[in-house]
Amino acid sequence: MAIKPVLRMGDPRLLKASKPVKKFHTDELRELIRDMRDTMTFLKGAGLAAPQIGVNLQVVIFGEESNPRTVASDTDAEAVPFTILLNPKLTPISDDREEAWEGCLSVPGMRGLVPRFLRLRYQGFDEHGKKIDRTVTDFHARVVQHECDHLAGILYPMRIQDMRYFGFTAELFPDEAMAGE
Ligand code: NI
Repeated sequence: MAIKPVLRMGDPRLLKASKPVKKFHTDELRELIRDMRDTMTFLKGAGLAAPQIGVNLQVVIFGEESNPRTVASDTDAEAVPFTILLNPKLTPISDDREEAWEGCLSVPGMRGLVPRFLRLRYQGFDEHGKKIDRTVTDFHARVVQHECDHLAGILYPMRIQDMRYFGFTAELFPDEAMAGE
């Protein structure tokens, strides 16, 4: 088990484009995914991308019960299954977008209102090299877009259209207990 330090906005490594994974079934890849999972679980994140722990590879993880926002509850959002996604390719299904609040472990303590495609197909590979091909909507689609943006060196504040809707979680949502990022 290894919880890694998460790079924060301002670190130039978060702005680099990540490289595709070429070799599956390596100890390095297994270790990377284990570290990412440990780190995301410990920090109660909704997802994590490899560059956030300083690894310049196209690997993202997201979903599961570690974050309250990935579990179906009082919202109509369906639970997002825990997913390990390598070399992802995203294809919006329509131009429909929706704005919702996002946070990020690399931008701790803050939230911003970010437009994302509502419907999305994503393709890629799991950690064994098996193909993943899913069409998703709503929060699931949002999480995938957020995490895959990290692989292009994009952090969610760069997507905010109205900077009045970017601020500290404690100020924006004073009544809300601090949830995960
Ligand atoms: Ni993030």
